[in-house]
Amino acid sequence: MNAKQIAANKDAFGIAGQVAVVTGASSGLGRACAILLGCGGAKVVVNHLPTSAEAAAKVCEEIESVGGEAFPYAADVSDEDQVAAMFSDSVARFGTLHILVNNAGIQDGARFQDMTLAQWRKVIDVNLTGMFLCSREAIREFLRRGPQPEVSRATGKIICMSSVHQVIPWAFEVNYAASKGGVNLLMQSLAQEFAPHKIRVNAVAPGAIPTRINRSARETEEATGNLLSLIPYGRVGEPADIAHAVLWLASDRSDYMNGTTMFVDGGMSTFPAFRGAG
Ligand code: BGC
Repeated sequence: MNAKQIAANKDAFGIAGQVAVVTGASSGLGRACAILLGCGGAKVVVNHLPTSAEAAAKVCEEIESVGGEAFPYAADVSDEDQVAAMFSDSVARFGTLHILVNNAGIQDGARFQDMTLAQWRKVIDVNLTGMFLCSREAIREFLRRGPQPEVSRATGKIICMSSVHQVIPWAFEVNYAASKGGVNLLMQSLAQEFAPHKIRVNAVAPGAIPTRINRSARETEEATGNLLSLIPYGRVGEPADIAHAVLWLASDRSDYMNGTTMFVDGGMSTFPAFRGAG
């Protein structure tokens, strides 16, 4: 089902009327998630960096074009004050929050011996500390509001955008792999801490999805061939492959899922180099 078909049947997806914050939603996977949640009838806060205001406005327009509600919000997820302001302004506008999609993420790799402390910090700050700050604000709001069983069986849902690199080591991208390994235990520990409050915390671990983050891995035919050799299913993913998993995790259909990572990767995390070898 595409976004328009979902919009035409939005009551079937179990998130209509719920409020969602999607970080890093002006492009790539965040954009796809924001649009699909918006088509499913969620009211969406489209978080973006100040430099992506135009793209974020377009995401909101797409959601509005199918009768949904959205507004763009510029904030750096690694900045405590900006994150706090984004959540309090979102709650002021939409009344509360039900769904957080922790999506914002960056890559800035290097040979390890050349990696600067600034590179290390930037990636950890956005990919991991950003999820800490946004999750903390979301959980504060879920606890403040308390259960709303007429809206959802869960008091709140957090979905973290992880990566196959939460389990697959990644040379030359040590900061990125370390951040995603951290995301996994952040997600599981939060799930354990807040399950008694009916707050569900899960992750999606995408494989190779063509977005800005991995443009260089697809720049030449050789690079594309190398990438495809890592994907037993024989194709790169599409942002929609990820967004559908997020939509499901945000709905009550996945109500018994908590503390789990869904790998959406065409089999990349099955270590395909071992097929017939080893
Ligand atoms: C990275 C991409 C990469 C993919 C598979 C993702 O987490 O952001 O750059 O293509 O993992 O290696």
